[in-house]
Amino acid sequence: TDAISVITAKRDGRELTDRQIDWVIDAFTRGEVADEQMSALAMAIVFNGLTRAETARWTAAMIATGQRMDLSALRRPTVDKHSTGGVGDKITLPLAPLVAACGAAVPQLSGRGLGHTGGTLDKLESIPGWRAELTGEEILAILVDPEIGAVVCAAGAGLAPADKKLYALRDVTGTVESVPLLASSIMSKKIAEGAGALVLDVKVGAGAFMKTLAGARELATVMVELGADAGMHTVALLTAMDSPLGYTAGNALEVAESVEVLAGGGPADVVALTLTLAEEMLGAAGLYDADPAAALRDGRAMDRWRAMVRAQGGDPVAPLPRARESEVVAATGSGVVTGLDAMAVGIAARLLGAGRLRQGEPVQAGAGVRWHVRPGDTVRAGQPLFTLYTDDPDRFGPARAALAGACALGGTHRAGPLVIERIG
Ligand code: URA
Repeated sequence: TDAISVITAKRDGRELTDRQIDWVIDAFTRGEVADEQMSALAMAIVFNGLTRAETARWTAAMIATGQRMDLSALRRPTVDKHSTGGVGDKITLPLAPLVAACGAAVPQLSGRGLGHTGGTLDKLESIPGWRAELTGEEILAILVDPEIGAVVCAAGAGLAPADKKLYALRDVTGTVESVPLLASSIMSKKIAEGAGALVLDVKVGAGAFMKTLAGARELATVMVELGADAGMHTVALLTAMDSPLGYTAGNALEVAESVEVLAGGGPADVVALTLTLAEEMLGAAGLYDADPAAALRDGRAMDRWRAMVRAQGGDPVAPLPRARESEVVAATGSGVVTGLDAMAVGIAARLLGAGRLRQGEPVQAGAGVRWHVRPGDTVRAGQPLFTLYTDDPDRFGPARAALAGACALGGTHRAGPLVIERIG
């Protein structure tokens, strides 16, 4: 078989054979299928989809490009969570050490920025010295350590290398928004990493890759099925992503906000979602007596965070990088904030340098957006709505343009629930 016949088969709406899927994933990972060919195939999948059987095979083929971790030597239950991608979604940063502090081991293969959403690895790399690339032995050593027990690192040469390549390509080719591509990306990493249980945070709304409840339900269902087939206890929460989480989107900005949560403060929505997901994870791990709220209050989660950052070469008390330039966007009218457009905020953060526009580009540690109001707040004309941060002032113009109209003002605001539904 060859790349062109696989691309044209999917372009024309045909079902791919197992052989075609196994070959194309393996050949792409080895560099025999070129980036432009894989981009074309990904776009054909965005338009024509994959059946459940094709999606299962695609996921298995991605796992087969690397090794699977064996966590059976760990004495503690293992559990992970993964988000389908949101704006201001820094939850992994406080959550992984919090759940480790409550007695589970948390292995987490994460990603970099994807589309308009920020990447957990890009955020953590703003910490001086912190390293995303770990070997399988390093991951195990951190998980076994009774003082650490949580690791957030990259899919790499060892685990799910196909996802590492395909993810970077999808980021810059407009091919993120596809149930089979999202599901196989996430589940190949999670199955390869070998955790016993998995909690999925499936984002739904204007700032999510799945805009509709029906789409998010389908994505959640496919992932829960893939997890169950692999023998992993998997549940999904559908959570709202109309407005961004917390008050910041950007790399160092979000690390700082996460550290506030670990210090017992931080934005209410970030704290609430962190605790909800921690309870789900601890329940899935069988640790019903754990009290994550107490672990956040009494500093145990912060101790784990520091140990986790140090174990990956980072200095948890070093000052975080700051952008060289900042600019304020002020309100032009008055009223109650009825919506804060997460998509616009995510695009602005990416344009300011928090994410990439081309494959492999460096990101700016200090770049991003801080918003000063949330839905339900009252604003007066002239009041600051956003502060924009970047090292490169040429980026302010495009970011301001992206944010035009992002803060909707009106008479009254009706808040919806943060957690919408649970599947699995
Ligand atoms: N997270 C991932 O790891 N992959 C996706 O495709 C989206 C979110």
